[in-house]
Amino acid sequence: MSIIGQGIDRIDGRVKVTGAAKYAAEHAIPRLAYAAMVTSTIPNGRITSIDTDAARALPGVLVVMTHQNAPRLPKQEKSPPGTQGVVALSLLQDDRVHYNGQPIAVVVADTLEHAQDAAHRLKVRYAADKAVLSFRQAKQHLRKAPDQPERPADTSRGNATGGLARAAFKLDRVYTTPLENHNPMEPHATIAAWDGDQLTLYDATQNVSGVRKTAARTFGIAAEKIRVVSPFVGGGFGCKGNTWSHVMLAAMASRMAGSPVKLAIERTQMFGPVGTRPMTEQHLRLGAARDGKLDALLHDTISSNAFLDDFPEPCTSVSRILYACDNLQTTQRMATMHLGVPTYMRAPGESTGSFALESALDELAYELHMDPVQLRLQNYAEKDPEKGLPWSSKSLRECYRIGAEKFGWARRTPEPRSMRDGRTLVGWGMATATYPAHRQKAKASATINADGSAVVRSGTHDLGTGTYTVMTQIAAEALGMPVAKVMFELGDTGLPEAPVSGGSQTVASVGPVVYAAASAARDKLIAMAISDNASALRGARPDEIVAADGWLTHKSDAGKREAMGAVIARHGGQPVTADSEAGPGDEKKKYAMHSFGAVFAEVHVDPDLGTVRVPRVVATYGVGRLMNRKTGLSQLMGGIVWGIGMGLMEKSELDGRTGRILNANLADYHVPVNADIGQIDITVLDEDDKQINVLGAKGIGEIGIVGVAAALANAVYHATGKRIRDLPITVDKLIA
Ligand code: MOS
Repeated sequence: MSIIGQGIDRIDGRVKVTGAAKYAAEHAIPRLAYAAMVTSTIPNGRITSIDTDAARALPGVLVVMTHQNAPRLPKQEKSPPGTQGVVALSLLQDDRVHYNGQPIAVVVADTLEHAQDAAHRLKVRYAADKAVLSFRQAKQHLRKAPDQPERPADTSRGNATGGLARAAFKLDRVYTTPLENHNPMEPHATIAAWDGDQLTLYDATQNVSGVRKTAARTFGIAAEKIRVVSPFVGGGFGCKGNTWSHVMLAAMASRMAGSPVKLAIERTQMFGPVGTRPMTEQHLRLGAARDGKLDALLHDTISSNAFLDDFPEPCTSVSRILYACDNLQTTQRMATMHLGVPTYMRAPGESTGSFALESALDELAYELHMDPVQLRLQNYAEKDPEKGLPWSSKSLRECYRIGAEKFGWARRTPEPRSMRDGRTLVGWGMATATYPAHRQKAKASATINADGSAVVRSGTHDLGTGTYTVMTQIAAEALGMPVAKVMFELGDTGLPEAPVSGGSQTVASVGPVVYAAASAARDKLIAMAISDNASALRGARPDEIVAADGWLTHKSDAGKREAMGAVIARHGGQPVTADSEAGPGDEKKKYAMHSFGAVFAEVHVDPDLGTVRVPRVVATYGVGRLMNRKTGLSQLMGGIVWGIGMGLMEKSELDGRTGRILNANLADYHVPVNADIGQIDITVLDEDDKQINVLGAKGIGEIGIVGVAAALANAVYHATGKRIRDLPITVDKLIA
C-alpha cells in the first residue's frame, strides 16, 4: 500500500481555515427563525406555571413553546435496559423537572437577539421537591448497572477474595474522579426544516443515522421522510454520539413556527442537557506475591447516574483484561442523582478506570520496592485473561521498552522527592493504556466518472478526526487513482448507512467497505477494458492489469495502458459504480482485539505553591496500521492533551444546594491551553494485524487519553511524596 499511511494534509483543511466549511448552525436556509432554549433552575420538582405574556409581547417573537402548548408526541416505549445510543429526552410533554438545566421551554423569534431577550422574560414557578445532589447520599441507594452486550456489570474469575487473603502484599485504595463535561469548540446546534411531512435536520452529530432513527421514533414518522445532514462537526468526543432533547425541540418549534428553526445551544448549556462524564468512586484491592505477581485484583466501581435515564461508566473494563491475574472480581454500581443523564466521554470507562488501576499498580510497586515497568511486565497478559483468547496483535512489551528508552526511564531514582531541577520537584511516572478495537456494519459506494475522477460515499462523520482525509486515501489506494481525483462524501443520511462515529470505530467499520466498494468499481472498469475491442488491454486477464495513478496498465507490458476515464468515455460515458456492505465477522470469537500503549510523563511541581507543570510526555502505541501519519499522530496527541486536562484541571463543580454547575463556562472550567502543553513525543509501532480488518487498523480515537491521568498522578507522587487519589490534581490537594 502506498497511499494509505502517508501523512498527507487534511483534505478539508482549506475549506476549514477559509470558513467555507459549513457547520450545523451555518447552513443558510431561507426564512430561518432563531430559537433560544430555556432550562430549569431547580433540580427536582414540578413546573406550576410559566407566564409567557411578557415574552410573547416582544417584537419578533413567533413561538413560546412550553409543556402547556408543545406538540403532543406519540408515547415513547422505555428502551430496554442496556440499550445504547438512546436517551430519555425532555420534550416538554409534562411538568416534571429531573435536574437543574433541563430544557423547559423554547422561544422562537425572527432574530437570535429577540429570541434570547424573550427567553429571559419567562416567569417560571416551581413546586420543588427534595433533590439528591450529593454523591455520598446517592451511594446509599446503589443499583447494579445494566448488563451491556459483551459487557456484563459484574465479572469474576478464580477466587478473588481467597487470593487476596493469601497474598503476601495487599493494597486497598479508593480513587475518585469528578463530573466532567464535553466542550468541543462547536457546541451542539440544529437547524430543523419541515417541508410538508418531510423533515431535514442540519445537526452537529457523530451519528446522522442515529438522529434519523430518534426523530422517526419521536415523531412517529417513517425514517425515509427524514434527512440528517452533518458535513462538518467541530469536535464530538462522545457528547454528539447520542441524540439529545434540543434536536427534537428544534423540529417541534419549527412545526409550531411554520418556518425553519435554528437552535444553537449556549456554552453554558453544554453542562447538563447534552451529557456529562459521571463521577466515579473506584475501590481497588490488589494482592501480590513478593515477586510482584498479582494474586488478586478486585475493582468495585460506583458511578453517578441520573433519574431520567441510566448510564454507567464502565470503569472496570481495563482491569478485566490488562494483567494476567487468575483471581479477579469486578462490579459496577450506579448512584442516582438529580443531574443530567451521563454519557460517553472519550474512552468512557477506560480513561477513568485506568486512573484507578494504574495508580494502584504504582502504589503496589512502591510497596514491593519494584520498578513500575517491571511490575507490569511481571504481570504481562500473553492472552486475554478474560476470554482466554489470543490477541489479534499486541506490542505492549515493545511499547514499554521503547517508551522507557525514549523517556530515559533508567535514570529515574525511585525515591519520592529525590529528583530536582533547582528548587523544583521533578517527578517521573508511567502508566499503561489500552482500548478495545470495535467494528460495526457499514455501507459505502464508489463511482468512477468518465473524466477520470471518482466519488466515494458513506454516511459517516468527520468530527475533526480526519475521516475525509483517510477515507479519500483508502479509496484512492483501492481505485488506483491519485488522491486529488477522489472525492469523499459523508455526513448525510442520503448516503449509504454507517454507524455512530464513536468507540474509535470509524476507520475499522467504514474503511473496509470504502476499500471494497472502490476495489469493486475498479474491477468493473478493468473488466470493461478487457472486453473492449478498442482497448490496448483487450484480451488480458484481470490479474495482469494494475490500476495506479489513474491508469490501467498491463503488468508485463507497460506500453499497453490507458487512462481509466477513457474506458468509460468510450462506453457512452456512463459512470461505473459499485456498492459494498460489510461488518464484523467471527474474528472476535477467535481473537481478543485491543490497542495498547505506554505513557511516560514528567511533572515539575513547585514545592511551595503546589503548581504542576508537564514539560514532557512520551507515549508509544500499538494501534495496528495508521491510515495517515499526520492526522493519526495529531489525534493521539489530542488525546494526551485531554489526559493532561483530566489529570490536572477538569471538574464540573456541582452546587450541592441547587444542583447547578457553578463553572459552566470556559473561563472557570479549566482545560489545557498551548502554554500548558510541553513536548509530546509519540511513537506508533509498526503493527501488522491481519485479523482485525483488511486495513489492519485498530482505531485511535480514544486510546490517547487513557493512562495519562495515572501517569501524571504517579509522577506527582514521585515528585512530592503525595499520593493524590482524587482527580483533578489541583494545587489545594498538594499544599494541604
Ligand atoms: Mo467516543 S466517547 O465513543 O465518541
